Amino acid sequence: MARRFDTGTGGGRLVIASHNPGKVREIGELLQPWRVTVVSAGSLGLPEPEETGTTFVANAELKAHAAAQASGLPALADDSGLEVAALGGAPGVYSARWGGPAKDFAHAMAEVERRMAGAADRSARFVCALTLAWPDGHAETFLGTVDGTLVFPPRGASGFGYDPIFRPLGADRTFAEMDPESKHRISHRADAFRRLVATCFAGGAGG
Ligand code: IMP
Repeated sequence: MARRFDTGTGGGRLVIASHNPGKVREIGELLQPWRVTVVSAGSLGLPEPEETGTTFVANAELKAHAAAQASGLPALADDSGLEVAALGGAPGVYSARWGGPAKDFAHAMAEVERRMAGAADRSARFVCALTLAWPDGHAETFLGTVDGTLVFPPRGASGFGYDPIFRPLGADRTFAEMDPESKHRISHRADAFRRLVATCFAGGAGG
């Protein structure tokens, strides 16, 4: 039986295990209807654990557990990336690292294209793992995905990361050519969030 987020415990506070202010704000907005008070890991001075997992789920769980333990509050973490079929799932959990210390995704996208040279299979997917962990060690994890095709050269200027080379199935534009609302309706992150909200927030004790 899945555990629900109880707005009565800890004053409805939920730690977002991310030091990225944009991500914290976006998650806060998504959870607004469920009377959740979002607190960032950064504002509590929590350390950022090293992402040593080899799967999205392992990294999301590692970050959520670390923040829940350190804060004594439920904590939510996500981990995401691009899996390219012709590259055996790479860059996968190393998606951010392919951008290097300068977070240079023009370079990372060129690297994907270089490694795919000659490959007929252009399919790829974005994956997002979302984990809600409690201080007692319990956790609920949800996976979201969006399937698509890689296109070169990169197209479009919105979004971030690998968006300019990812065209979701059924669309004629890359994520970077879409307005943010259109991307957020179909993204891997939105998919994982829908699952999380349906199980842990909507209609339950916290609803
Ligand atoms: P993180 O989980 O926020 O660290 O993201 C991992 C990396 O995966 C990001 O740095 C991006 O390179 C890539 N990534 C994750 N989600 C997206 C997306 O929606 N669009 C483009 N790239 C993404």
